[in-house]
Amino acid sequence: MKEIRTIEFKKDTLYLIDQRKLPISYEIFECKTYEDVDFAIKDMVVRGAPAIGATAAYGVVLAAKEFLKENKGKFLANMEEALDLLNKSRPTAVNLMWAISRMRNIIERSKALPVGNIYEKLKREADIILNEDIETNKKMAKHGNQIVGQNATILTHCNTGALATAGFGTALGVIREAFYSGKNIFVYADETRPRLQGGRLTAWELVEEGIPSTLIVDSVAATLIRDGKIDLILVGADRVALNGDTANKIGTFMLSVLAKEYNIPFYVVAPTTTIDFNINTGKEIDIEERDSKEVTYIENIRIAPEGIDVYNPAFDVTPNEHITGIITEKGILKPPFKENILKIK
Ligand code: MRU
Repeated sequence: MKEIRTIEFKKDTLYLIDQRKLPISYEIFECKTYEDVDFAIKDMVVRGAPAIGATAAYGVVLAAKEFLKENKGKFLANMEEALDLLNKSRPTAVNLMWAISRMRNIIERSKALPVGNIYEKLKREADIILNEDIETNKKMAKHGNQIVGQNATILTHCNTGALATAGFGTALGVIREAFYSGKNIFVYADETRPRLQGGRLTAWELVEEGIPSTLIVDSVAATLIRDGKIDLILVGADRVALNGDTANKIGTFMLSVLAKEYNIPFYVVAPTTTIDFNINTGKEIDIEERDSKEVTYIENIRIAPEGIDVYNPAFDVTPNEHITGIITEKGILKPPFKENILKIK
C-alpha cells in the first residue's frame, strides 16, 4: 500500500502536496506563516474536510511560532486574529472549525503558561489531530468494508482519499481496504466538475494503488446506475447535521436521487469530526460559492463567453432519507440518524 503524505510539519514549515498541480506534476507547497496556510486552504492547494482541519491546526502552530517574541497580552491577541482568519478560510467543512476550536481550547487552558510552553502544547495538539485522523480513517475503512460485496462495482464522487485527509481516506479508504482485503472490486470515479478532484486526484490515487477503475464524466453516472452497473455508492462528507443531512461535493445530491430511484445502497463515509452536533438539519449548512472562473476556464483557457453569469456552489446537501448509512470510526449509523448520531456523541 502506498503511503501518501498530504500534510507534513517539519522544522517550523508545513509541507503540503500541491493538489492544484496533480497529476501533471508532483510538487510540494511550503507554508512558513499562518497566512500561507490561509492561502493554501482558500486556493485549494490542500482540500478535503479532514485535510483542511489538520492543515489549519498547523496554521495555528505557525502563528504561535511567529508571535513567540511578543509579550503574553500581544501574543494572545495576535493568536485570536490568526484563529479567526483560519476559521474563515473555507465555510462548509466543519472539520476546519472543529480543529480550530480544539486549538483555541489549548490556548484557553494554558493561558497562564509562558508563551513558549503554549507553543509546545499547540504543536503537540496539531500532531495529535493529524495522527488521530489517520487512525480514525483506518477504523472507518474496516467498518465500511463490511458492506462491500465480494465483486462490488462502486461509484464514488470527488476525492476522499489520502489527499483529502491526513492519510488513507474516508470513502476511498473503504475502497482501499476492500481492495487490500482481497475483494474483487471495480471503481467508477466521477471526474467531479468543476475542480476535477475525481479526474485529477481520485484517478491518481486509484492508479497509484493499482485498483481496477474507470474514470467517467459526471453525467455518465445516471446511465451506469440505470443499466444496473453499480452495486454501491460511497461518498465522503464535509458536514453532517444531527438529522443525517449531509453536505458534500456538488453533484452528490444528484447521485443520491438516482440511488433512491434505482434502489442502490448509498453510504456516506465520514469521521465524527465531520458531524456538526450544533445544527439540526442541512438547511443550516453554509454552502460555499466559488469563483466563476472555475467554470468559465479550464486551466488558463476560457471555454465560456465573456458576459455569461455563473452559479458555482462547491457543495450540495443530500437529505438524510436518501442515505442508507453513515460509516464512522464508531461504527455504521443507520436511520433514525438523529437518535443514532446522538448515541455516539
Ligand atoms: O472542495 P473540496 O475538494 O475540499 O471538497 C471535498 C469533498 O467534498 C469531499 O468529498 C469531502 O471533503 C470528504 S473527503 C474526506
